[in-house]
Amino acid sequence: MLKLKKVLSEKILEGIQTINADSGLDAAAVADMLEYPPDAAMGDLALPCFKLSKSLRRSPVQIAEALAAAIDCDCLMKAEAVNGYLNMYIGDKHYSEGVLADILAKGEKYGAPDFGKGKTVVLDYSSPNVAKPFHIGHLGTTVIGHSLKKLHEFAGYDCVGINYLGDWGTQFGKLIVAYRKWGSREEVEQGGVDKLVELYVKFHNEAENDKALEDEARAEFTKLEHGDEENLDLWRWFVDVSLAEYKQTYKLLDIEFDSYKGESFYTDKMPAQVQILREKGLLKIDDGASIVDLEEYNMPPCLILKRDGSTLYPTRDIAAAVYRKNEYKFDKAIYVTSAGQSLHFAQWFKVVEMMGYDWHDQLVHVPYGTVSINGAKLATRTGNVILLRDLFAQAIEKVTDIIDEKNPNLENKKQVAEDVGVGAIIFYYLSNNRIRDINFIMEDALSFDGNTGPYVQYTYARTCSILSKSEVKEGENKITAQEERALLSVLSKFEEKVIEAIEAYEPSIITRYILDVAVAFNQFYHNCQILGAEDEEVRNTRIRITKAAQTVLGNAFGLICLKKTEKI
Ligand code: ARG
Repeated sequence: MLKLKKVLSEKILEGIQTINADSGLDAAAVADMLEYPPDAAMGDLALPCFKLSKSLRRSPVQIAEALAAAIDCDCLMKAEAVNGYLNMYIGDKHYSEGVLADILAKGEKYGAPDFGKGKTVVLDYSSPNVAKPFHIGHLGTTVIGHSLKKLHEFAGYDCVGINYLGDWGTQFGKLIVAYRKWGSREEVEQGGVDKLVELYVKFHNEAENDKALEDEARAEFTKLEHGDEENLDLWRWFVDVSLAEYKQTYKLLDIEFDSYKGESFYTDKMPAQVQILREKGLLKIDDGASIVDLEEYNMPPCLILKRDGSTLYPTRDIAAAVYRKNEYKFDKAIYVTSAGQSLHFAQWFKVVEMMGYDWHDQLVHVPYGTVSINGAKLATRTGNVILLRDLFAQAIEKVTDIIDEKNPNLENKKQVAEDVGVGAIIFYYLSNNRIRDINFIMEDALSFDGNTGPYVQYTYARTCSILSKSEVKEGENKITAQEERALLSVLSKFEEKVIEAIEAYEPSIITRYILDVAVAFNQFYHNCQILGAEDEEVRNTRIRITKAAQTVLGNAFGLICLKKTEKI
């Protein structure tokens, strides 16, 4: 639709010039004014002419009428003036040549903008804290982050996915103490992260009554920071055990990271940045701690060094950003975290600016809302959390039951159940604007009739089934049905949706678009004979339309990590 908007806005501009030769408008400004009417009866594209009445000094009704009479474009079937709107109806020639032929020719590249060519984006996402549970609070950063990576790759960017593991900090002192007191190698080897979390929780419970434990933990962490071999070995082992488990979840989601450089990596890179802060006179001592005052910007101070000289979360992020800028020469660095961390990012982004780094405006924080399950909020530390692993396992199990009931002879049952179960969760999660808090209801996510992952994957499988029974032949297109036009119209909007999703850092735009495609395809499928169409040209056109729908669905699935299920 982008190309068409461009062509039409040029034609409309010609019409505008007949009304007023120096309106001061250009085609791009006109293109921005175009809207999609809420109802197909009002055309495929509309120009609300009140937007022009000021510069043209005419009423919207007059303008719409003048433009309807003047516009001449062979991509349109007709243009009508209705209540100050110019309603334009796309002609079949455009659907067949401008849309259908274009999709089939471009295939996997269809819908891909190219504004990212030659640019690099670094994405910091998922980043769980070692030895703490990888729970459903991480679902957002993991799937939004990965989807943003896919979207940027689609637009031509070179992308670097970074898992900034929380692999450093006082929790390791606690864990070392807990492990030595109550743990054993065999138990951790067998129990993995669960066992580590158990030890960590036990530490907190015991520390309630025995304050000396906290001191012991601090001492162990200090030893670790000073390179104590025994503690380092334990630390490395805890990280490995945790990572091995996170990787199982990543595998299920088909996520691979380009870098796992976690917080520990930046330990020796912080002093240089603290030095710059000091030289620039940005550090202030406050109750023994070093801070950057941000009052001028209406924010609480950013903490750089604790009273004992140890560094803090913002210090590490600043050092990491500088390192990444040098290492990857990024054009944009994206951080996906819960909205609870928004202030943290606003603060240290500001500090980076104050330090004089001219790339401070390339840092982007992408926040998201909270997740609860069936109404229950999550509680960390008490150990009462829903692990991501369990959430996916539960979905896969339920899908397996559904398949056993509905289609017990399906080949490759295990893989399909996995793809659909995981897809259901991703789709459900990514259906809402990311900033909204969501309440997860498993039954809703898994339903085959709602606006769900299973529904759209089933639709994809339906296109595969049709195409497995017939060849996609080249030939003249013969568009005859309204459902064909409606579907092609939806398909033609893909690239615009991709651009919108990238600009707003909002994968849900793609999720909702996938639903639009699925609904339009199913209407076409139910109301038009495809393989059974008598006229050969009509039949072949419908098969090509099916191929086009499959292509767009498949491309869009890739952007939100949904698997292309050929059979369900
Ligand atoms: N590990 C952190 C957490 O789980 C998230 C890290 C986000 N990335 C960053 N560069 N601060 O809360």
